[in-house]
Order: sequence, then structure tokens, then C-alpha cells
Amino acid sequence: MVSFILNDKLISTDSPQGMTLLDFVRHEKNLVGTKIGCREGDCGACTVLIGELNDGKMEYNSVTSCITPLGNVSGKHVVSIEGLNMTELTPVQQAMVDEAGTQCGFCTVGFVVSFSGLCLSNKVISYEDVISGIDGNICRCTGYKSIERAAERIYNNLKNKDLNNPVKWLVEQKFIPEYFASIPERIKNIESSNELMQGKIMVGGGTDLYVQKHDEMEDSEISFVSNTKEFKGIRIDGNVCTIGSASTVSELMESIELKTLFPNLRKHLKLISSTQIRNIGTLAGNFVNASPIGDLTVFFIALNSLITFKNKANVERTILLKDLYQGYKKLDKNEDEYISYLQFTIPDSSTHFNFEKVSKRTHLDIASVNTAVSIKIEANIICEINLSAGGVGPIPLYLKNTCEFLKRKELVMKNITAAIEIMQKEIAPISDARGTEEYKRLLLRQLFFAHFLELFPATFNQEILA
Ligand SMILES: Cc1cc2nc3c(=O)[nH]c(=O)nc-3n(C[C@H](O)[C@H](O)[C@H](O)COP(=O)(O)OP(=O)(O)OC[C@H]3O[C@@H](n4cnc5c(N)ncnc54)[C@H](O)[C@@H]3O)c2cc1C
Ligand code: FES
Ligand code: FES
Repeated sequence: MVSFILNDKLISTDSPQGMTLLDFVRHEKNLVGTKIGCREGDCGACTVLIGELNDGKMEYNSVTSCITPLGNVSGKHVVSIEGLNMTELTPVQQAMVDEAGTQCGFCTVGFVVSFSGLCLSNKVISYEDVISGIDGNICRCTGYKSIERAAERIYNNLKNKDLNNPVKWLVEQKFIPEYFASIPERIKNIESSNELMQGKIMVGGGTDLYVQKHDEMEDSEISFVSNTKEFKGIRIDGNVCTIGSASTVSELMESIELKTLFPNLRKHLKLISSTQIRNIGTLAGNFVNASPIGDLTVFFIALNSLITFKNKANVERTILLKDLYQGYKKLDKNEDEYISYLQFTIPDSSTHFNFEKVSKRTHLDIASVNTAVSIKIEANIICEINLSAGGVGPIPLYLKNTCEFLKRKELVMKNITAAIEIMQKEIAPISDARGTEEYKRLLLRQLFFAHFLELFPATFNQEILA
């Protein structure tokens, strides 16, 4: 049984917990405003909001309902377009009309729901945030300029929002219906477990599983990791950072601790998928999916991170993340083990970190090649370096030989160029839809230079550009 609030109604259902939220909303509840487009998380036509109570405040996030299992919304507030509609158009809907932001209308519901989710944010939001909030919504016919103008109107409308009580303000301004004010109290009364269920398949956000095994998932026995308290949270103890395996990409992006450690974190993680996918896709899901181009995998390998498994008997086992990958989709992980958390040593002030990714388009695209580096420099000598790369072999690679070569060398162009030769020998890219072997070799070479340009512009700017 799953219980949650769908718009204004309490739902308690025996429908399979592996069923997608989209199918439940459209087919079981006949709320057909939520559209079916790609069913792969790519188009945003099926966007709904999911609200959770955190520290007494509701936090709403947009998600793609086509790849979200019903079990993941247990104890939450799900908002479809029907739950936003009132007798008059909301300021978001009016902005889309006034700026001619819709033609066939198929995508419009998704845009309106995504924009409305931003309106519900408890934080100050900029115009850039409003634009970023629709990075997972695709429109085939209107042209984005009119939608961007609608975004600007929405942003201007929100300038006086009362951040102490955003819901009250949004109700008064007719952005959302009145029932939103009653949700926090009603959510508290819904029974929902924070313990891990003992299903055969672990599901985090479902953003990999529901794309790859869509038809099998509905009737599978599932452990819903994302609802399990044990796997959530980001904390720093001494010089170690611990991240719960079910932390979402958005939670990493918003973490004050991580933003302090990595000032470019937002820029780096914004290159991953889209807002809707980042709101649900998890750390462990990215690791266990074992894609050779997993962005979080490449990011955390370069921090020399450790992952800790637990099995059903609660026995823990810790390995280096880079050692998880034994061959294409072959993992050093027993069937009854799940990833509990990740840890890395906090980089000291002489250690510099960078992540680079090239994909065919900026958002909603996996990498052709990605790479990350952490490098410790003292008196212009490379004391320590960890370099990772994706898309250049059957697994996400830790470039051991390149790192060994660079250790204890001076940070000068001659050594960086020599390292490229070694790097080219330890990668084995193949030609595929993301590019030819030669192209990927060239990409990694350029991204390797990009690390040094980004981290040490004063040293390398002139030489690399020359
Ligand atoms: C439209 C779209 C765009 C995407 N873009 C990107 C991108 O730019 N970069 C990128 O790297 N990825 C991308 N992805 C892939 C995906 O979103 C990420 O890999 C995400 O981190 C997967 O996490 P999840 O929780 O959704 O995984 P799930 O689908 O829930 O699970 C994936 C695998 O991990 C296992 N698993 C989950 N949690 C645990 C655990 N705690 N312990 C053990 N096993 C576990 C599951 O059993 C399954 O085998 C994209 C996906 C979509 C649909
Ligand atoms: S239907 Fe395209 S993202 Fe869900
Ligand atoms: S209005 Fe037709 S797809 Fe956007």
C-alpha cells in the first residue's frame, strides 16, 4: 500500500509500487493533463511536482513522472497540472499566453509545472534559475525565445515574494490554489516508512532502471532506496566528507558543505542531465549503473573516494570507488550488497579540483568524454594527482600511469605534454554514436589541457593557446 497526497486528495493505493507515477496519474486517476512524450525522461512533457516536508517546510521539486516509481512518492505531495489549475489562469499560465509561449500545447503543461515548481521555491531565485528550471523541458514548435520572455515575466512577478511564508504569498497572488496551505499538516498524518524494504531490485531515482527495463519494473519486488533515511545526508567529520548513497544530484548541488569545498560545484553538476532528472537521480544509481561515462563516477574517482557496502546481515565492506569497475558493467559487488555511503578526504588548500565534460548538447545529454582531476601542488611540484576519464574505455577509468608519471614532477608545460603520450596509451576508446576513436582521443587530450588552463591560468594560458 502506498499513501500520498495527489493534488488535493489523499491517495492510498494497492497499485504496484513499481508502476510509474505517470501511468498512475493518467490511467488510474484519469488526470490526463500530464502528457506522455518520450517515456525516457528526455522531453519533460510528463513533469509533475513532488513536495516533501523538511524541517517543517514543504520543498517542491519537479520530476519526470514517466520514470518515477509510485513507491518513491510514499508520504509526499504530488502535484499535476490539475492541482495547479484554478478558475482563472495563474500568473505562470498567463505569462505563457501573453508571450505566445505555446503552439500545439503538448509541452506546455510540463513548462507550466516546472515554472510553478520554481515559484514554490523557499529560496531567492534569479532569472538564470528560472531559465535553468526548464532545462528538462523540450518544445518542438514554439521557439524558445517566447518561452524565455514568459520566464522573464514570471521572474518579475516573483520579485516581491515573501520568503518567510512563500505559500501564503503565492496563494494570495493566485499562483497556487488555497489547499496548498493545508498540505504540511496533512502530510504529517500520512504513514510512510523510512526503513529499507527487502525487495530484489534496488531503485534510487529510477532514472536508469526505468529507461532500460521499463516493462519489467511494474511487477518487480523493489527496495526504494530514496525513501530510506539511512542513505540520505551529507556531512563533514574532521577531514572526511560522507555522502549518503541515495543523495540526489540536486542535493549535492545545494549542499553548503560541498559548495564550500568545490566553488565550481554548481557549474560542474549542471552539466548532468536536467533539473527533473537531477532532482531524483542518485549517487549510488550513477555508480552501479556502471556507465563508462557516468558523470558522478568520474567526478568522485578523481577524489580517490571510498564506497561502503552493507549486506542484508548488516556487514560492511569498503573499497575504492575506482576498484568497483572490473570490466564492462562488471562490478566488485555481491548480489546482496548495497552501497550505503561514499567518503573522501577533504582536499587541503594546496589541492585543486576540476571536472570537464563534452557532450553533443549542453543539457540533457550524456558525455562523449568526461574527466576530473584533483592535484596537490607545493612549490610548483605535483605532490599528488588523481585523474579520471570516462568515454575512453569500457569502464570509467582511473588513469594510474599518467598519475604516476606526473607525481613529483614540476608543473610545467613540458611535463603536461609528455603525460599526454602516456595517457593515450592507457585509454581504449571505441568509435560509436558519440564519436570516432580518434575524436575521443583528441577530446581527452584537449580536456586534459583544459584542467590545467582552468586551474593554473597564470602558468599555462600563453603556452597552451600558442
Ligand atoms: C534523460 C536522462 C539524462 C541523463 N543524463 C545523465 C548525465 O548527463 N550524466 C550521467 O552521468 N547520467 C545521466 N543519466 C543517467 C542517470 O540519471 C544517472 O546515472 C543517475 O545518477 C542514476 O541514478 P538513479 O538513482 O536514478 O538510478 P536507478 O535507476 O534507481 O538505479 C540504477 C542502478 O543502481 C542500482 N542502485 C541504486 N541505488 C543503489 C544502492 N544504494 N546500492 C546498490 N545499488 C543501487 C539499481 O539497482 C540499478 O541497478 C541520465 C538519465 C536520463 C533518464
Ligand atoms: S514523457 Fe518525456 S520526460 Fe517523461
Ligand atoms: S508548443 Fe508544441 S511542442 Fe511546445
